[in-house]
Amino acid sequence: MLADKDRIFTNLYGLHDWGLDGARKRGCWVDVKSFIEKGRDWMINEMKASGLRGRGGAGFPTGLKWSFMPKQIGERPHYLVVNADESEPGTCKDREIMRHDPHLLVEGCLIAGAAMGAHVGYIYVRGEFIRERERLQAAIDQAYEARLIGKNNIHGWDFDLHVHHGAGAYICGEETALLESLEGKKGQPRMKPPFPANVGLYGAPTTINNVESIAVAGTIMRRGAAWFSGIGRPNNVGTKLFCISGHVNKPCNVEEAMGIPFRELIDKHCGGIRGGWDNLLAVIPGGASVPCVPADQIIDCPMDFDSLRNLKSGLGTAAVIVMDKSTDMIRAIARLAYFYKHESCGQCTPCREGTGWMWRVLTRMAEGRAEKREIDMLLDVTYQIEGHTICALGDAAAWPVQGLIRHFRHVIEDRIDQYSANPDHAGAVRLQAAE
Ligand SMILES: Cc1cc2nc3c(=O)[nH]c(=O)nc-3n(C[C@H](O)[C@H](O)[C@H](O)COP(=O)(O)O)c2cc1C
Ligand code: SF4
Repeated sequence: MLADKDRIFTNLYGLHDWGLDGARKRGCWVDVKSFIEKGRDWMINEMKASGLRGRGGAGFPTGLKWSFMPKQIGERPHYLVVNADESEPGTCKDREIMRHDPHLLVEGCLIAGAAMGAHVGYIYVRGEFIRERERLQAAIDQAYEARLIGKNNIHGWDFDLHVHHGAGAYICGEETALLESLEGKKGQPRMKPPFPANVGLYGAPTTINNVESIAVAGTIMRRGAAWFSGIGRPNNVGTKLFCISGHVNKPCNVEEAMGIPFRELIDKHCGGIRGGWDNLLAVIPGGASVPCVPADQIIDCPMDFDSLRNLKSGLGTAAVIVMDKSTDMIRAIARLAYFYKHESCGQCTPCREGTGWMWRVLTRMAEGRAEKREIDMLLDVTYQIEGHTICALGDAAAWPVQGLIRHFRHVIEDRIDQYSANPDHAGAVRLQAAE
C-alpha cells in the first residue's frame, strides 16, 4: 500500500483548505523558480527520467511528448492545452484534482509551459463540471494575485492560463476534437499527421496533456525523478489515481502505487467485493473503452499498463468498474455500445454506422433474439471498425464488444438458446428502446 508520505494528492478528499495557503502548506509552489531556472532541457529530462506515462488513457510517456515541441520558439507561439474533459465512463479523478487540489494543476501548467516554451495555456473543462470550473478559476485568480503566474511573475516565465468550458461532449476529450472546439468550431477530430506538436491550436505547436499528468509535474520535480520512478514496476511507475465503482462495498477514488494487485486495491480501499470474492464476475479495469476481464484473470493482476495489456485489456484511465454475478454482461456492454453510438461524431463511416449496428445487434442479443452465427458476424464488424477510423473512438466502441465475446460467448449462446426454447421470451431480458 502506498505510504502517506508518498502521496501527491494530499487533499484528494477535500478535507483541507483547497486555496493557496493550504496548497502552500502541503508543499505546492515550493522551488518552482529553481526548476524553471534550470532550463527547458532539464525539466524535460526530469519528466523523461521519472517514467511518467500519460494519465489520459493511452499511457504515452509524458517527458517524450514534451520533447516533441520545437526547441526554438519561431514565429508561431507554443501552447499548452490541458485536457479536463473527463468523460470516459467510470472516470472521476480529474474533477477531484480541480475541486480539492487545483493549485497542483495550476503549478503544473506553469512548469509544463516553461518546459515547452509556452507562454499561454488553456484548460478545457468538461461542460458538466460547473463547480470544478469555478474552483479552478478561483485558484487561477489566486495565482495571478500572488504573481505566481501572469506577466512578470515571480518565477521568471511569463505565463497566462485560461479556462475554457466545453459544452459536454465525449468526443471533445479526443485531443484534436478538443482543439477544434477550443477554436470555436464543431468538436470533430482532425486527421493526423500533422500532429499537434507541429500543427496544433491555431496552427501552432501545441501539447495536450491530461489533468493528472500535469498536476503531478511539480511534485515529481520537487522529490526527484528517481523517487517517482522508484514506485511501481519498470515501465509502469509512480502513483496513480484509481476510480473504483460498481459492486464493491465502498466505491472510492484513491491514490495508490502503480501496479497494486487488484485484490489488494479492492480489499484495502473498497471493503471488498459485494457478497465476497466468490461473487465477482468481471471487471472493466480502465474506463468503458477497455475490454472486460473475467474474475479469475484479474484477481491477482497488477493494476498497470503492461499487465492489463497482457490480459488483452488496458489500464486506460484507471477507472475500475467492478461487476458481480448479478450483472447481465450482455446488457451492460449493450449499454456501453449505446453510449458510443450516441457520442460518435459521425465523420467516419465505420464508426458512424458501426456503433449503431453493434448496439442494435447487442440489444437483440441481450434478449436472446438473435442467431448464433451473428456472434462471429458481430466480432467481424468490430474488426472492421477497429483501426479504420480517424480517431480512437471507433476502437473504444469495438473493444468492449470484443471483450464480451472473448469471455462471455457462452452467455450469449445460452441466452439465444433460452429465447428459442421460449419465444414468448419468458425470463428473457428486455431492453428499453430508450436505452
Ligand atoms: C474519444 C476519446 C475521448 C477522450 N477523452 C479524454 C478525456 O476526457 N481526458 C483526457 O485526458 N484524455 C482523453 N482522451 C485522450 C486524449 O486524446 C489524449 O490522448 C490525452 O489527453 C493525452 O494526455 P496524456 O498524454 O497526459 O495522457 C480521449 C481520447 C478519445 C479517443
Ligand atoms: S472514429 Fe468516430 S468519433 Fe472519431 S472521428 Fe471517426 S466518426 Fe468521429
